Amino acid sequence: MEVLAPEALIDDLRGVLRGRYPVHPVRQLLLGGELTREQLQGWAKNQFHEFRNIHRFFGIRYQKCPIQALRRMLLENMVEEEGEDLFGGEYPSHAELWTRFGEGLGIPREEMQGYEPLPGIKAALEMYVQLVQQSHWAVAIGTGLVFEGEGPKRMGEERQALETNYPWIPSEALAFFRAHEYHDEGHGDFIVEVIKEHIMDAGLQEEMRAAVRTRVDIMWLQNESIYQAFVRPQLSPEAAGRLEAAAN
Ligand SMILES: [Fe+2]
Repeated sequence: MEVLAPEALIDDLRGVLRGRYPVHPVRQLLLGGELTREQLQGWAKNQFHEFRNIHRFFGIRYQKCPIQALRRMLLENMVEEEGEDLFGGEYPSHAELWTRFGEGLGIPREEMQGYEPLPGIKAALEMYVQLVQQSHWAVAIGTGLVFEGEGPKRMGEERQALETNYPWIPSEALAFFRAHEYHDEGHGDFIVEVIKEHIMDAGLQEEMRAAVRTRVDIMWLQNESIYQAFVRPQLSPEAAGRLEAAAN
């Protein structure tokens, strides 16, 4: 098996990502401002399941990592998740920021916190925890390329779409997105550096590629679960057909 040079490997992984992460119907509608308030609420309540359980995979990455300098970066990332206010910073935990986003959408705090996610959403989280658990330590960090690595772009896109197309959402409710636009810039670089430095043999590169594919599938499953439960039943067959064709 061929071993790719660092830059070529990153390009290759981003290619896997783009090849398998077409714009899902839920994202097309979200970004286009076409979700109803109830559909946005369904999206937010289900997305919360991963955002409130980040410790389950971040903790594994930290515990597995043999290099102290990298563990410090992972720890910093975990502090952001659990709340920078722990060390006098501005932001509370990301779960709290998401809860406030939900309040901005009209979801009472208790409803968000007590919500029972869709089965596919629960399965997706378990798949991701298992992927990180089973992977080589550097691959476990590298799977972040799919979400955190694309994070600033993705979060910026979502914030802009929410601001422009859903002007009834109060601006302060979007702090979750602003926090990630800012932080994920650094996390993306960190992930890319770990991949370039520590995934430099053929077997690990293959493991990394497969892990990126699985992470993309997990995100697809999350979007698909939300789409089938809250969105598709309200679309005309023609509209659903158009969206689904564009996603394949
Ligand atoms: Fe976060």
